[in-house]
Formats: sequence, C-alpha cells, structure tokens
Amino acid sequence: MSHIRPARLHDLPGTYRACLHTSDAGGDGSALYQNPDLLGHIYVGPYIVGEPHFAFVIADDHGVAGYVLGTPDTRVFEAWQEREWWPALRAAYPMAGGDTLDDELIAQIHTPVTAPDTVVANYPAHLHIDLLPRVQGRGLGRVMLETLFEALRAGGVSGIHLDVGEDNHNAIAFYRHLGFAELARGTDSIYLGMELS
Ligand SMILES: CC(C)(COP(=O)(O)OP(=O)(O)OC[C@H]1O[C@@H](n2cnc3c(N)ncnc32)[C@H](O)[C@@H]1OP(=O)(O)O)[C@@H](O)C(=O)NCCC(=O)NCCS
Repeated sequence: MSHIRPARLHDLPGTYRACLHTSDAGGDGSALYQNPDLLGHIYVGPYIVGEPHFAFVIADDHGVAGYVLGTPDTRVFEAWQEREWWPALRAAYPMAGGDTLDDELIAQIHTPVTAPDTVVANYPAHLHIDLLPRVQGRGLGRVMLETLFEALRAGGVSGIHLDVGEDNHNAIAFYRHLGFAELARGTDSIYLGMELS
C-alpha cells in the first residue's frame, strides 16, 4: 500500500534512486552513468534539504517509489544553492572537461542550467516529479502534483514552470493533460508552465 507524505532527510537514498531509475526519458538510466549520485545531487538533494515544505515522497513496502519536489521562488532557490549547496559539490567534483554524461552533470554542478527570465517572471515556482513504474498510471502523479500545488498556493504562489526533455513524450502528454502549456524551448528540452491562482 503506497502513501504520500512530506519528504525527510532519510528519504535521500530512495529519492536519489528513483531519480536515476527514471532519468532516461522517463525510463531507467542507471546504465548511462558511472556515478549514480550525480543526478540526485542536481535534481533531488537541494530540494529536500533546501525546500522541505515543498518536497513530498510516495512510499510503499519497497521503500520510496517517487517524489515531487518544488520551490516557490526559482531565483531565491538558485541563490540558496549558490551559497549552501554547490560549493561543497564543486570541491568534490572538479570540472573534468570530458564528454561523458557524468562529465556533463559535473559541468552542470559548476554552471547550473537556469530557466529564462521570461519563464520565471510569470511562473516563479518550478518542480520535478518522478515515479517508479510500480506506481505509475494509477492517478498518483496527479495527486502528487496537486499536493505540491496546494502547498504553493498556501504560500501565495501564482505560477509554476518545469523543464522536460523533448524526447520524454509520455511526461509531456501528462503535463499537457493536466493543463501545462509550452512557454519556451531549452537545449533538448521544453519549458512548460501553468497558473496556480
Ligand atoms: C510522468 C508521470 C509523473 C505521470 O504520473 P502517473 O502517475 O503515471 O500519471 P497519472 O496516472 O497520475 O495520470 C494523471 C492523468 O494524466 C493522464 N496521463 C498520464 N499519462 C498520459 C499520457 N502519456 N498521455 C495523455 N494523458 C496522460 C492520465 O490519463 C490521467 O488522466 P485523468 O486524471 O484525467 O484520468 C510518471 O509516469 C513518471 O514519473 N514517469 C517517469 C519519470 C518522468 O518522466 N518524469 C517527468 C520528468 S520531467
């Protein structure tokens, strides 16, 4: 039996795993990376540590089965990451300069990808959601997004965006079905947004 609850620090291993196992256009990316922690350092850890009021997991008897993570104010969050999150990782993972997927993630730690001002202006919040296959397709993705939206609305947030890989057709269709619309194009990705108020 699965249940949704606020994320805690002890959820870091499970959420890092879920991130890796949904990282190849929604499918298992564990064969793509040498270091299984790098993705989580970028897409999971800073949210659970820095934005615990906007971090939720779904868990069952097998452990963490997915998460939705967000921040109400992307620019404030980026500034927090610069102060508190990236310095230790930059020291631990010096720029490698190679062209493997691990090297690309290390480059992101040193030069994080940020959403364009035009996106953030009207959609200041952003999110990441990943569910393992065992809990997909049961309406839980919708419930998890609504859980996050409720927390953001309570904080007076008016709009939210996300960045989805352009080859992740399933996720794009899911987001569009829930009311997200295209705002801009990134490198190999699409920025989608939705008003919350
Ligand atoms: C994308 C993802 C979050 C969707 O979650 P889910 O639990 O599978 O989706 P739900 O069952 O909650 O679906 C919610 C609604 O979206 C619809 N939907 C889901 N996938 C859809 C698709 N591919 N096309 C059209 N509608 C879709 C459902 O029919 C449902 O509609 P309803 O509520 O009106 O009946 C989940 O499949 C996932 O984590 N995939 C792997 C990781 C990933 O790609 N994450 C996104 C990275 S940006």
